Amino acid sequence: MIASNPFGSGVFSLFRYLVLGLLIQTAAATHHASPKPPKLSFLYTLFAECKSDLMHAGTGPHGIRAAIPIVGGNFSGPHLSGKVLNVGADWGLTDPRTKIFSADTRYNLRTDDGADIFVQTSGPQVPDGHLHLRMVFETASPRYYWLNNIVAIGVLTTGLPSTGDFNLLRIDGWHLAGDWDSTQFVNSSVPV
Ligand SMILES: *[C@@H]1O[C@H](CO)[C@@H](O)[C@H](O)[C@H]1NC(C)=O
Ligand SMILES: *[C@@H]1O[C@H](CO)[C@@H](O)[C@H](O)[C@H]1NC(C)=O
Repeated sequence: MIASNPFGSGVFSLFRYLVLGLLIQTAAATHHASPKPPKLSFLYTLFAECKSDLMHAGTGPHGIRAAIPIVGGNFSGPHLSGKVLNVGADWGLTDPRTKIFSADTRYNLRTDDGADIFVQTSGPQVPDGHLHLRMVFETASPRYYWLNNIVAIGVLTTGLPSTGDFNLLRIDGWHLAGDWDSTQFVNSSVPV
């Protein structure tokens, strides 16, 4: 009589719990494996003109620091376009342990209608040679204020053929769909 055998029923119930646990885990894993990835909205394509690295590189406390001046360029997208100003640089770092370069930039954009936008980007070189960037925007312009609240990424391509005394690179930028693309101010008397 199995029911009266404490050892047998113990093993049986242990087995039952194992199977139950496994089923729950599998269900949970299946559930976690399939969240819907967020969609992206195109922000712009930006061309940046850069000078050569100014640093006489050596390994410092954070790695091998660069100082690559960003001296011009342009950007164009469905909601904003304009010029890259000659004020900024990429103070990127190369990790001496991997030789992977990570961008660390600050620069300014001026839109065709005169708004100033401060940009900060960072992110590593990836196996295919591009860089993957996080992009953060800051502006006081009411018209472009929504840029302060987007979550944006970029794919950077280096080594484009250049017509001037600079290196040309390209950043294609997107932000998460569902982010703001306009701003409703609480104080409606602020001009947009
Ligand atoms: C933006 O810069 C790229 C690269 O220099 C150039 O080919 C393109 O014509 C420029 N676009 C505008 C609108 O100036
Ligand atoms: C709304 O904006 C106007 C114009 O800038 C300003 O004079 C006013 O004080 C603001 N009101 C509030 C409640 O912030």
